[in-house]
Amino acid sequence: MFNRLSRRHFARIAGWSALGLSTISAESAQADSRRSLPSGFPRNFLWGTATSAYQIEGAVNEDGRGPSIWDRFAHTDGKIGDHSTADVANDHYHRYKEDVQLIKALGAKAYRFSIAWPRVFPEGTGSPNPKGLDFYDRLLDELLANGIEPFATLYHWDLPQALQDRFGGWMSRDTSKAFADYAGYVAAHLSDRVKKIFTINECHRLVYSGYGAGIDAPGLSLPPQELNQVMHHVALGHGLAAQAVRAHGRTGTRVGPAENLVVCIPAIETPANIRATEIATRELNAGYLTVILEGKYTDGFLAYAGKNAPKYTAEDLKVISSPIDFVGLNIYLPHHYVVAADNKSGFSLLPFPSTFPHMESDWLKIGPEAMYWAPRQVAKLWNVKSIYITENGASASDQPAADGNIYDLDRIMYLRNYLTQLQRATSEGVPVRGYFLWSLMDNFEWTDGFEKRFGLYRVDFKTQRRTPKLSASFYREVIERNKVV
Ligand code: NOJ
Repeated sequence: MFNRLSRRHFARIAGWSALGLSTISAESAQADSRRSLPSGFPRNFLWGTATSAYQIEGAVNEDGRGPSIWDRFAHTDGKIGDHSTADVANDHYHRYKEDVQLIKALGAKAYRFSIAWPRVFPEGTGSPNPKGLDFYDRLLDELLANGIEPFATLYHWDLPQALQDRFGGWMSRDTSKAFADYAGYVAAHLSDRVKKIFTINECHRLVYSGYGAGIDAPGLSLPPQELNQVMHHVALGHGLAAQAVRAHGRTGTRVGPAENLVVCIPAIETPANIRATEIATRELNAGYLTVILEGKYTDGFLAYAGKNAPKYTAEDLKVISSPIDFVGLNIYLPHHYVVAADNKSGFSLLPFPSTFPHMESDWLKIGPEAMYWAPRQVAKLWNVKSIYITENGASASDQPAADGNIYDLDRIMYLRNYLTQLQRATSEGVPVRGYFLWSLMDNFEWTDGFEKRFGLYRVDFKTQRRTPKLSASFYREVIERNKVV
C-alpha cells in the first residue's frame, strides 16, 4: 500500500494526505495547530530539516571549487569504512531543485544547509570564486520561491585544503582570521536572503575527532597543549565570524553557533542531581559553549588543563564571547547521566551499562531526555533567550520490506520520544524556536561513508532516486499538527 501511495504522493508532491496515514482530517489538524493545544508546540514553532555541503553536494571539481580536507581524507586509503568518497554523494549540486521539493512535501518551513568554504574561496583566502557563490544564490532563490526559510551554516568541516597546507588548519589563528573574512564575504553577498547564519558546526567534534583522535579530517593526533590551542582557535574563529557577519550582513541578519554540547542528564530527577547536572554541563562544555557565553574558561577547566591550557589574551576572550542572537544545539544522545557528589566538582558521572540501547550507529545511545535537559540547562545557565535544535535524528538499518518500502519504525520510535521531551521543554517555557531534523535524506556519513543512513528519504546512490520512508510521513504529521503524533 505504501508503495502505491508513495507514487501517488510523488505525483502530487504536496498532497501527502494521499499516504492515508493520518487518522485525523486535515481540517481538525489545522484547528489543532491554530489553537496551539497545551500538548502541542508553540505557535510559530519552526520545523525544518538539515544537511551539509560535503555530505550531499558532490560536484567536487566543478565551477572552480577548491579541494577540502575531507576530499583529501576520503581519498586516503583506509579512512572511510566503505571506501567511498563524497565526490558525487547525493549529486545535490545538480539536483537541488528536486531536493527543495522534498522539503516542501514534508510541509517543513525551514532548511539548514551549509556553504562550502572551498567553493567560495578555493584557496581559503584571496580571490573569491563567483561561480561558487552562484550555486548558493540559486539554492536560496529556490528555497524562498517555495516558502522555505533558509538557515546557512558557514563551516561544516570542509576546510579548504590550502589552509591545512599553509597553516596547519585550525592549529593556527590565521585560519580563524581567514574564516572571519569568508564569513563577512558570505554575509555581504547573501544576507539579503538568508537571515539566520550559524558559524561553526560542532566545534567539539571537529577538534577532538579531527585533531585529537585523528579519525576525522585532517586526521591528526596532537598532544594535549596543541589540541587545546586548536580548540581555542576554533572558538576564536566562531567569535571573529560572528563579528564579521554583524559587520557585513544586512540589518536583521542573526548569527550564532551550532554546537554538539556534551549532554548531561540527572540520573534521577532530584533537586540535588539537577543542580549537579548544571555544574557538570558548564564544566564539560568549558572550551565551547561556556567560553562563548561567559567569555572565560572555567577555573575547573584551567586547573585540569594545567600547563596544557591554551595560550590566549584577554582580547581573545572578548572576541569569543561576542554577542550572538541564538544558540543552535545538535542533540543526539545522552553523554552522561549525573548524580550529586560530595567531591570537589560536586558531581559524579555514572558508567553506562553494556545493555544501554543504541540506534544503528554504535555511538548513538537512545536517551530522549537529552532533548529536554540540554536546552533547559542552556537557557538557565546562560540566560539564553533563543535556541534552535540544529540537528537531531537517527541512523537505522532501513532494510526494504517485501513490498519495497522502508518501515523505519525504530527511527520513528526515536523521533517520537525525543520530540515528546522537546514538547515537555517548550511547554515549560524553554525558549526553543525551531527544530531541524537530521537529515532530509540519506547522505555521506563521514567515516561511515554511505553505510549509515539518517534520512527521511532513502537515497539509492546508484540511481540517485529519492523515496520517502515511513518516518517522512510521521514527520509530516508532526509538522502539520504541530505536536507529537
Ligand atoms: C552531526 C554532524 O553535524 C552531521 O554532519 C552528522 O552527519 C550527524 N551528526 C550524524 O552523525
